[in-house]
Amino acid sequence: MKFLGVSGSLRHASSNTELLRAVALLAPRGLRITLFDGLGGLPHFNPDLDTDPPPPAVRVLRESIAAADGLLISSPEYAHGVPGVLKNALDWLVSSVAIVGKPIGLLNGSPRAVHAQASLVEILRTMSADVVPAAHGSVPLLGRNLDAAGIAADPELAKVVRGALTALVEAVQGRAPTASSTG
Ligand code: FNR
Repeated sequence: MKFLGVSGSLRHASSNTELLRAVALLAPRGLRITLFDGLGGLPHFNPDLDTDPPPPAVRVLRESIAAADGLLISSPEYAHGVPGVLKNALDWLVSSVAIVGKPIGLLNGSPRAVHAQASLVEILRTMSADVVPAAHGSVPLLGRNLDAAGIAADPELAKVVRGALTALVEAVQGRAPTASSTG
C-alpha cells in the first residue's frame, strides 16, 4: 500500500511536514509513505493553463496522487483559511480524476486550526474525494520544536498519528475489491 503525504506548509522547519515524516516513521511494514515536495513549484492556477498536456509540474502532481492508494494532508491554518499553496494545488486537481474517490486523512500540528480543517473537508468533498473522518488527527506541536523522530517518540502524539493512519489503511482496504467480488 502506498500513501502520499502533502504538507500545506512550505516552511523549511514546518511542523506539519515533520508530522508527515513522523507518519512515515510510524507506518507499519508494507505501507510506504512518500512526501510530495512539488507544491511550491506549481504555477498559479489559471484555467487557461489547464491544457492537454498540462504544465509538467501539474502532471507530476496528478500522477503522484493517482498512483497513491491514499492521501494524507497535514496543513497549517493561515488567517482562518487553507494556505494558498495548498488551495492552488487542489484547484489544479479539479479538472482531473486523480483525487476522485481517493481516501484522504487530514492531520495538522495545531488543534486551533479548526477553520482550515473544516474548509479542507468542504473543498475535498466538493471534489468528490473520500474524506475519512476517522483518519483526522490534530496534535499540539506549536512551540515544541519537535522533529519527526521526536514526534514519533512521544507516546501521546504517536497514538494520534497511528490512529489516523490505521483508519486510512482500513478505508483503503474497505475499498479494495475482494476475490469474491472480482469473481
Ligand atoms: C498563522 N497561524 C495561524 N494559526 C491559527 O490557528 N489560525 C490562524 O488563523 C493562523 N493564521 C496564521 C497566518 C500566518 C500568515 C501565519 C504565518 C501563521 C499559525 C500557524 O498556523 C502555525 O504556526 C502553524 O503551526 C505553522 O505550521 P508549520 O509551518 O509549522 O507547518
